[in-house]
Amino acid sequence: MKDFSELITVRRSHRKFTDEAVGEEQLRSIMRAALMAPSSKGLHSYEFVTVTDPKTIGHLSRCKQIGAELLAGAPLAIAVLGDAETSDAWIEDASVAATMMLLQAEDLGLGACWVQVRERKDAEGRDAEDNVRRLLSIPPKYRILCLIAVGHKGAERKPQNEERLKWEKVHSEKW
Ligand SMILES: Cc1cc2nc3c(=O)[nH]c(=O)nc-3n(C[C@H](O)[C@H](O)[C@H](O)COP(=O)(O)O)c2cc1C
Repeated sequence: MKDFSELITVRRSHRKFTDEAVGEEQLRSIMRAALMAPSSKGLHSYEFVTVTDPKTIGHLSRCKQIGAELLAGAPLAIAVLGDAETSDAWIEDASVAATMMLLQAEDLGLGACWVQVRERKDAEGRDAEDNVRRLLSIPPKYRILCLIAVGHKGAERKPQNEERLKWEKVHSEKW
């Protein structure tokens, strides 16, 4: 286990994976982290669909025009959903859960990458959410924020560059 400061420094988006499957315990740890995420009013408006079938993951990699191709090489994809009827903060709830999953994956030594679905379209102009909904039989009331690709890292990536942190974005006391 890395300490938290190290964890957030070495976490990067990984888009290349080996063929090795993500273990059941590893998947359970990632989902455990998601379920521990804070949520608005404690409503837990998120839901998740884990996918390991390569054919389905292949279809998911074409759910939008650009930026989802990396899924094709991932042994695991996790759809992060939200119930907009339960919470007006479903995007925030789902985003925090997705972030927890990215960090837990890194802590396990796995690579992961967020693939945005909400507000994206495929090459024919179809809504990416509709494409994912159809592929994973997701009921209409749930929205689809993103897919998280997870796998064993196919390449190392450099840690965050401390020198390039945008400290000018941090305003003290007033803007
Ligand atoms: C809201 C959000 C949407 C993203 N969507 C995609 C995506 O669709 N495809 C992709 O390859 N990476 C996606 N990423 C990953 C970013 O490209 C990545 O986090 C950013 O370039 C910084 O790199 P790092 O994660 O290695 O620090 C997304 C990240 C976030 C937070």
